[in-house]
Amino acid sequence: MNNTYKQIVSKYSKLLKSITYIPQKEVEILLLNILDKNVIWLHINYNEKCPSNIEEKLKQKVQKRATNYPIEYITNKVSFYGEIFNIIDGVLIPRPETEILVEKAEKILKNISKPKVVEVGVGSGIVSIMLALLIDDIKVIAVDINEKALELAHKNAVKHKVEHKITFIKSDIFNSIQVSNFDMCISNPPYIANDFSLPLNVRYEPSNALFGGFDGNELLKKIIKSTNNNNIKYLLCEMGYDQKKSLNNFLETFNIKKVKYYKDLENLDRGFELEFV
Ligand SMILES: C[S@@+](CC[C@H](N)C(=O)[O-])C[C@H]1O[C@@H](n2cnc3c(N)ncnc32)[C@H](O)[C@@H]1O
Repeated sequence: MNNTYKQIVSKYSKLLKSITYIPQKEVEILLLNILDKNVIWLHINYNEKCPSNIEEKLKQKVQKRATNYPIEYITNKVSFYGEIFNIIDGVLIPRPETEILVEKAEKILKNISKPKVVEVGVGSGIVSIMLALLIDDIKVIAVDINEKALELAHKNAVKHKVEHKITFIKSDIFNSIQVSNFDMCISNPPYIANDFSLPLNVRYEPSNALFGGFDGNELLKKIIKSTNNNNIKYLLCEMGYDQKKSLNNFLETFNIKKVKYYKDLENLDRGFELEFV
């Protein structure tokens, strides 16, 4: 006899207890993803019978999640800045702290007429797309070395109806693009040191989106250099919590008007806003 939705949520939550603090919530998310329904529907129908084919699909997804595989790669959905984006295996899952980077960029860009922005490492597209949604007359060039990311970012731009504002190009930093008269470079680059041991769930994400070199900040330094060489006034980047000192030393070799570091939601150094002279 079929179980009710309530019974199957309780049954499969047990399989996720060791990998998440919110097992019941995660089972509900997986179930709703299969049913394509919302949480209100589920709570109204909690005592109804769950069809056996739905339970079978849920079981498979829960078993996958129980290996620490990220839930976002199972549902193919992620929330960022109050919007829903598509996400797929092979592209970095957006993190909440990157919302701070978007906020800082918006504050500067809203005072520039027809701003031109280049994003290095677009990933799923969240940063460029949010800026395109927030700033009316913006033009963005968004680059990545990962073709899968570029394809997904374009799909997300179409979903949010801003594809006419963003040009997606495969490029190693600025190597394959022209950026004359650009106002800002923005980037959440890979910044983890190569020998850092990642938590299990993060190991499913693409390593070229995470590791930034021997010290971790090598790509960041290249981005600083390229931004300066291309006469772009503003550079906003995320960085590792322990990279402020080494970046500060590196910045001494440039003509900087001001640099401000900012902290993330856990009060760790997480990024900087830089204005070149
Ligand atoms: C940390 S992820 C950020 C993705 C997205 N912007 C976000 O915030 O979720 C870094 C991205 O940089 C890309 N990347 C790595 N090296 C790069 C390079 N040399 N030039 C351009 N993009 C690069 C990776 O493929 C990845 O998509």
